[in-house]
Amino acid sequence: MGASAEQPIIRFERVTKSYDDGETVLKEVSFEIRRGQFYTLLGPSGCGKTTILRLIAGFQEPSSGEIYFDGKVINRVPANERQVNTVFQDYALFPHLDVFENVAFGLRIKRMKQADVENKVLEALRFVNLKGYEKRQITELSGGQRQRVAIARAIVNEPQVLLLDEPLSALDLKLRTEMQYELRELQRRLGITFIFVTHDQEEALAMSDEIFVMKEGTIQQSGTPTDIYDEPINRFVADFIGESNIVAGQMVRDYEVRFAGHTFECVDGGFRPDEPVEIVIRPEDLEITPPESGKLVVKVDSQLFRGVHYEIIGYDDAGNEWMVHSTKRATVGERVGLGFDPEAIHVMRFGETEEEFDRRLLAYEESANER
Ligand SMILES: Nc1ncnc2c1ncn2[C@@H]1O[C@H](COP(=O)(O)OP(=O)(O)OP(=O)(O)O)[C@@H](O)[C@H]1O
Ligand SMILES: [Mg+2]
Repeated sequence: MGASAEQPIIRFERVTKSYDDGETVLKEVSFEIRRGQFYTLLGPSGCGKTTILRLIAGFQEPSSGEIYFDGKVINRVPANERQVNTVFQDYALFPHLDVFENVAFGLRIKRMKQADVENKVLEALRFVNLKGYEKRQITELSGGQRQRVAIARAIVNEPQVLLLDEPLSALDLKLRTEMQYELRELQRRLGITFIFVTHDQEEALAMSDEIFVMKEGTIQQSGTPTDIYDEPINRFVADFIGESNIVAGQMVRDYEVRFAGHTFECVDGGFRPDEPVEIVIRPEDLEITPPESGKLVVKVDSQLFRGVHYEIIGYDDAGNEWMVHSTKRATVGERVGLGFDPEAIHVMRFGETEEEFDRRLLAYEESANER
């Protein structure tokens, strides 16, 4: 692999976006997008996901900072000169054109020869499993089929990067799950970079090579789905990704943490002695035991059957709430034990940023190697 293959296809360098009314909607955001990967921007409404896509597509300019494409600054390159295409949430298809002409639209603007247009459109339609639908009107298609026309229309231009802004949010749950699978397959077959926006954490976990978790114009954490699920760096990320039990604690020393009135063995280190921390334990990492063999004891407050498991809520004597996902049922009002492994305890430093987290981990690993 040469140096150019290693170079990120897109890079944001301290990009800020403010509007005239003074609102800063992106705050010195930096990240790298590598070629051929599936990225997801995940975060609550208004956090700046669409703004990032608009800046990449060239519909807007940053207020400060640099946007690189293939190593060159593109801040002022107009949208139609960028090797990027967007699939919008409402698809923005042309209702008066049939499927073929919707997909052909961009090629016609480029005045491509009819024979080439036909080849390319049919190939794009084959890619999204819509061969044979060329003459259909847009109004005669289902939601999922419209979605696929919108994707065909974007990929027919052979962009290097495809931007997808919540493309599945209008579909019902079953179709949505099918389309998640199809989109992921399509990205692998095309081998181009996808940047996908969603506020649905399950969708992000299922589809992505890498997720950027956003909050209020900043990226809180970036990483693979497993990284982010298993090692959330702060309360916001832990809360946003999956169900979590989050309680206040104290790092007594390396490998020893105190919460809910007890001291437990854990696998974390690199904190100050007695540093206040937050503890995350996932509901599926807790096990219901007899009270005498539990590491904690809780009084069961409620129980719901969720199809695959029971969701049990209980309170410990310190008043902390604990959610358990268990295949065993409990009885409301009874006291039960909670069992968990040292690895199930995730320790988070208060308000730590991703860079601070990485630095602390590195310093800790280096000191551990010396021991
Ligand atoms: N043209 C504009 N002028 C002023 N503020 C804007 C403009 N466009 C967007 N904003 C603000 O920028 C912030 C981020 O908007 P953005 O559309 O990027 O959010 P989002 O993460 O895509 O949200 P959603 O999930 O609701 O689509 C919001 O607070 C929004 O009100
Ligand atoms: Mg948006």
